[in-house]
Amino acid sequence: MVSVLFVCLGNICRSPMAEAVLRHKLRQQGLEEKVHVDSAGTGDWHVGAPPHHGTRAILARQGISYEGIKARQINNEDLTRFEYIVVMEDKNMASIEQLAGYTDKRFCRLTDFIGDPNYTKVPDPYFTGHFEETYRLVEAGCEGLIRTIRARGKI
Ligand code: 4NP
Repeated sequence: MVSVLFVCLGNICRSPMAEAVLRHKLRQQGLEEKVHVDSAGTGDWHVGAPPHHGTRAILARQGISYEGIKARQINNEDLTRFEYIVVMEDKNMASIEQLAGYTDKRFCRLTDFIGDPNYTKVPDPYFTGHFEETYRLVEAGCEGLIRTIRARGKI
């Protein structure tokens, strides 16, 4: 089974949005059982919290469920057991490389899957409130990620 872990800083804005969007798209394509999807934060401030209201509002408007999603902090085991570890920005990449003590081709950026070099990060909406921009990038990234997994013949 393919497995995907989305990683951001707090695990309340961007990575839970990506988790919900990817799961939704997989369900629409009848692929829900083929891909395990999860998310985690590099920080521990919001552990146990549901997604941020900005993330919840966008998902609700799109008719995408976020049921059961609760913030947790990434751990060392996550770094070995997921096939795709998909971060939102370089800061997250530096944190997971430090936690792992190595770098790995399984570690990637969500924007890598958009296929446009103008996009190199999913900016943090926590302080800006720019959740629409987050959603657009997350949506395009998840589309591209499914395309990539398909192209590799995994689903
Ligand atoms: P996220 O956003 O990494 O997309 O979940 C943030 C959430 C919380 C904080 C920073 C970013 N914070 O500083 O508490």
